[in-house]
Parts: sequence; C-alpha cells; structure tokens
Amino acid sequence: MADYKSIQLTNFEVDKKVLDIVNNCLSQQPDPRPFVEINSIGYVFYFHTLDIKLLQRNIEMLTAHDLFSANNPSSSRKAGELLQKIYEEVSKIGSYGIRSGKRQYVNFDIERKVRNRKAKEQNRSQYYYAQDNNFSKISNQLPPEMTNQIFCGDSLEVLKKIPDNSIDLIFTSPPYNFGLEYERQDDAHKWDLYFEKLFAIFDECIRVLKFGGRIAVNIQPLFSDYIPSHHLISNFFISRRMIWKGEILWEKNNYNCKYTAWGSWKSPSNPYLKYTWEFIEIFAKGTLKKSGDPKNADITSDEFKEWVVAKWSIAPERKMKEFGHPAMFPEKLAERVIKLFSFVGDIVLDPFNGVGTTTAVAQKLGRKFIGIDISQEYCDIAQKRLKNTLL
Ligand SMILES: C[S@@+](CC[C@H](N)C(=O)[O-])C[C@H]1O[C@@H](n2cnc3c(N)ncnc32)[C@H](O)[C@@H]1O
Repeated sequence: MADYKSIQLTNFEVDKKVLDIVNNCLSQQPDPRPFVEINSIGYVFYFHTLDIKLLQRNIEMLTAHDLFSANNPSSSRKAGELLQKIYEEVSKIGSYGIRSGKRQYVNFDIERKVRNRKAKEQNRSQYYYAQDNNFSKISNQLPPEMTNQIFCGDSLEVLKKIPDNSIDLIFTSPPYNFGLEYERQDDAHKWDLYFEKLFAIFDECIRVLKFGGRIAVNIQPLFSDYIPSHHLISNFFISRRMIWKGEILWEKNNYNCKYTAWGSWKSPSNPYLKYTWEFIEIFAKGTLKKSGDPKNADITSDEFKEWVVAKWSIAPERKMKEFGHPAMFPEKLAERVIKLFSFVGDIVLDPFNGVGTTTAVAQKLGRKFIGIDISQEYCDIAQKRLKNTLL
C-alpha cells in the first residue's frame, strides 16, 4: 500500500453494491490498479496511476445507463457519482512523486508516455522521415588490416575501401572549407562545392555505419557567412533517412569576438549575433537503440547523469599550437561522445581525423578505431599521439 496515494471521500453513504460496481470499473485500469475500500468515515480511494479517459468513459456509462445493476438503478448512478467525485479529486492533483527513478503520473492520458508507449509512438509516426529506409541489418567485419589504423588520403577515396555496415560510431569535425588553413587544398571552393564534397563523404559514412550505428558531427556554424551549416548538415542526414538522435550544445565560453566585426554597433540596422558555442548533431542509422553487451558500457552513473544534459561546458583545446593544427577539438569532447554513444570494443571512425584526437581517445577508452586525414603531416602527428597514449 506504501506506493499508493489515498483520497478519503466523505459525504457518501457507503453501500457494498456501489463499492462492487466501482471496483469492477477500476479493475479495467492499468497496473498498479486503483481500488476503493470502506473505512469508518466513508470510502477511501487508493491509486497510483490512472487512465483518466477510461475513468471518464466509466462515468458516462454509469450515469447514462444502469448497466451494472438492472434491479437497482440507483446503485449504478451512485457508483457513477462516486467515480465522478474521484475524477474531480484526482484532477486537482495532476502528477505526483518519483518511483524507481520514474515520475508516476496520475491524470495521464493518451498523450502521456506511460502506457502502450510503443503503439502510441507508432501512431504518432515516430521519426516518420526515416521510416522507409533500405538499411541492411547485417553487420560486416572490418578487415584486421584496416583496424586501428590512420590512413592518409582523401576521405572520399579511403572510405570506399571500408566494408558496408562495419563501423559503430563516427565522430568528426569537418573542415570549414576544403582549403585555407588546411594543407594541400586550394581555397577556391564555393559553398555549393563544399557541401557537395562534404555530403559525398557523409554518404560514404552512412554506408559504412552498422545498423544502429551513430554519426556525431561537431559543427561550428558559419555564422559570419550566414550559412547555417548545422541545419544544412542535419537536413542532409534527414534526407538520407537517418534518425535525428539529438543535438549537443558545446559551450566553449570563449567571449573574444568583436562586437561590430560583421555588423552594426548599437543599432538595429544590422546587429551581429555572437556565439560562444558549437553543435554536435547526432544521427542514428535505422534504429535509435544500439546493440551491445551491457558489460561493455563504461560510462559511470555520474557521467551519464551529467552528459545526457545536452549542454556541455568544455573549454576549447588549448594546445593547438603544440600539435600544429588550427581546428582541433578537445579530448574531453571526444571522451564524452565515445563513452555516451559506443561500447568498449566498438569501432570508432573519424573521416577528418586531423591530429588524431578521436583516434587517441578511442584507443585510450578501449575502442577500435580508424582515422583518415588528407594531410600527411597531421597523420604523422596522429600516429605519434597513439604511441604516447598506449595504455
Ligand atoms: C576541423 S579539422 C579536424 C580536427 C580534428 N578533430 C582534431 O582534433 O585534430 C578537419 C580536418 O579535415 C582534413 N581534411 C580536409 N579535407 C579532407 C578530405 N577530403 N579528406 C580527409 N581529410 C580532410 C583537414 O586536413 C583537417 O585536419
């Protein structure tokens, strides 16, 4: 009885027949089932969760017809009145309590996610945009000679050598452009060419992911050019029937950009909005649920509680000069993504591996890995990093 809430209902003349009718109606309720008892003051209603719509139907039925008690019409009417009182009292409460880590709702109805969640989600066409995909559920083995390797080359070419459905997690941060700060590229790409190339690489990424595999893309939206790259990239994955798993806001707290760099000062003419954060857009292939042995989940409960809150305050990488790369993400970011979205022993890929933050962290955390970068210099540093981080 400890888990039940009770409401004392006075001003009712108690009647065993009425009690039976009411309890008969309540027996159709979901577990743990509510019920009514009689005590010295009157009726007591005990309840835990309640399907309010069902209760309303019972009330309508009892007050409209005397179905339960043809010989004594007033018993069913009285039962209807008692249920009506119960309904009114419960409606005042709304929700209450936490039990086994879950909030238990009174007053939940078809919209609340307590009963028949799966069926309801199907009714609502959960991630409808990703339903009619052709993703195979069969995983393939990554050849041993490709496992735990850094490859130097254009991702579009290198990825083609990786079998379909062989990678568990991709974590990456694409180049802002395929040029400028990075080596070996010219800076002449226009944005359409940029996205064309990026999406061709992402198509390969989707192909190599296992069913249930995830891709997490760290994106600094190109605000100064007014290019909402996080939206464009998300739209691309949605167009490919990938399921949007979520978005993490990576708060870098770097308040160093100038107020008027790209806009007006103290004027509505063209104020420029400043951002101190980046995004990580996460997409899943085929299903949100990834298979894996629970023994291979290495995230602690404290980490889990903190990291599922999708705003991560992590300082930017401070050793970029030391590593000789202008656009690294910090190890802490890779650690969170890898532990939250993959199991120990999974295969992690970064198609824009730079100086190997993803691969170094994957190795530290007991994952297998593949890193690809077009720059030989960066690949050499990524290799050295792996040696330094060997356990
Ligand atoms: C934003 S950086 C990634 C940095 C990385 N996260 C790190 O922490 O070192 C993007 C990388 O993409 C690489 N890149 C650019 N075009 C490429 C391509 N076509 N194939 C593979 N890598 C490419 C660049 O050399 C650069 O290192």
